[in-house]
Amino acid sequence: MDLFQYKNGVLYCEELPVDSLPEKGLPTPFYLYSVNTLRQHYKKIYGAFAKLDPTICFSVKSCNNVHLLNELAAMGSGMDIVSGGELFVVKQSNADLSKVVFAGVGKSDEEITDAIISEVGYINIESEQELARVQELAGHLKREVSVLIRVLPDITDQKTNEKTRTGYKGAKFGIDYAAVEALIEENADHPFVKIRGLHCHIGSPISSYTFYQESIQKMVALTASLKRKNIILKVLNIGGGFPANYVDNDNFSWESFAEPIIALLEPYVRNEGFKIILEPGRSISANTAILVTKVLYIKQSGDKHIAILDAGMTELIRPAMYNAFHFIWPVKPEPQHVLANRNYPVEQEGLTNYDVVGPICESSDYLAKERPLPPLQQGDYVAVFTTGAYGMVMSSNYNLHVRPAEIMVDKDKAFVIRERETQQDLVRKMIRHEL
Ligand code: LLP
Repeated sequence: MDLFQYKNGVLYCEELPVDSLPEKGLPTPFYLYSVNTLRQHYKKIYGAFAKLDPTICFSVKSCNNVHLLNELAAMGSGMDIVSGGELFVVKQSNADLSKVVFAGVGKSDEEITDAIISEVGYINIESEQELARVQELAGHLKREVSVLIRVLPDITDQKTNEKTRTGYKGAKFGIDYAAVEALIEENADHPFVKIRGLHCHIGSPISSYTFYQESIQKMVALTASLKRKNIILKVLNIGGGFPANYVDNDNFSWESFAEPIIALLEPYVRNEGFKIILEPGRSISANTAILVTKVLYIKQSGDKHIAILDAGMTELIRPAMYNAFHFIWPVKPEPQHVLANRNYPVEQEGLTNYDVVGPICESSDYLAKERPLPPLQQGDYVAVFTTGAYGMVMSSNYNLHVRPAEIMVDKDKAFVIRERETQQDLVRKMIRHEL
């Protein structure tokens, strides 16, 4: 459930009518975040897994605005990061760095050094060579660092888009399941680099808890086998990839999703003192924002109705890249098209099928194809829902469009949390100098 709802014929973000912002002069497109949705989603997910007393490490790659990270850090969230840039932003968010996990297959020496000096909780090791590099750098610095070994479990959810699967054999992520045990045995006694546990992330979004059960079973089998060799691992990071709601605004039962996972892990937590880490991104952030955009033109092409918006793949690349579905609806529809609840497909008379496209010079620049929508007019504001994850963070300046503003709403108050870029910003780094 998110806090974007139609009231009095218009879409509200919490207690603020969405159209009041562009009417006050805020240029479209912009991302509009509901901070109380963010807070609720964090609390729901934490609450559902509370029996495990987990550390939630919010996946910063899904949504990286420091003000939103601040909100999560204030509720006790840790952070899952994948670059020195993310570490830099996380440091400004007041997050507890001991609750930071650092993943990624290609960490540079500078990034590893920064992570060690910053005393992040764990570096997730994704290859044998990376482990050797971390050992070397920690040795130079004479600083201890805790690491988790990322296991590549050979598990695939076929419902996950091919481009966002990470757990299949041959993927670039983690270390082959069969090679992990020997690697840990060989490196168990390093003076500076302490192997504390395992990490596994099988892709996103994952459609059923059963895939987590499979990967957890594989991880606990490894820890049991190592325990017989007196190597004790007590940290299990089960990754992210929990689902978000892209089609309606119904309540998702986090309890039903979490229970079977808890059933598997609880004995290890209770009897063996295991520490559990979760890395949710989209399940916390996706339903937190909408993209507000304006209809620039309507035209007919062959038998197609085309609605051209001022936002497209430069603001939201997910439809172009993954053929992803995002619910779209006008901010202030005609009274007969106001929605009590979002629910796709919408059962209403008088809808027209539109290809909803952006202004970018690419055929892949679309937000929806053949989408039934109320008749759209030039100047209408349109909301693209569930865009708080992998929306703004994947935006670009392609075609030299400026990146949009991010606005955060708390009840009836709106705050700019990232300014819209200016055209000056587009040339700011185009500085010619001789090398
Ligand atoms: N942990 C690791 C190691 C990850 O690689 C990811 C996502 C997550 C956690 C968080 O996954 P989430 O809970 O947000 O699903 N751009 C794509 C998604 C790429 C995901 C990359 N890794 C999209 O728009 O769907």
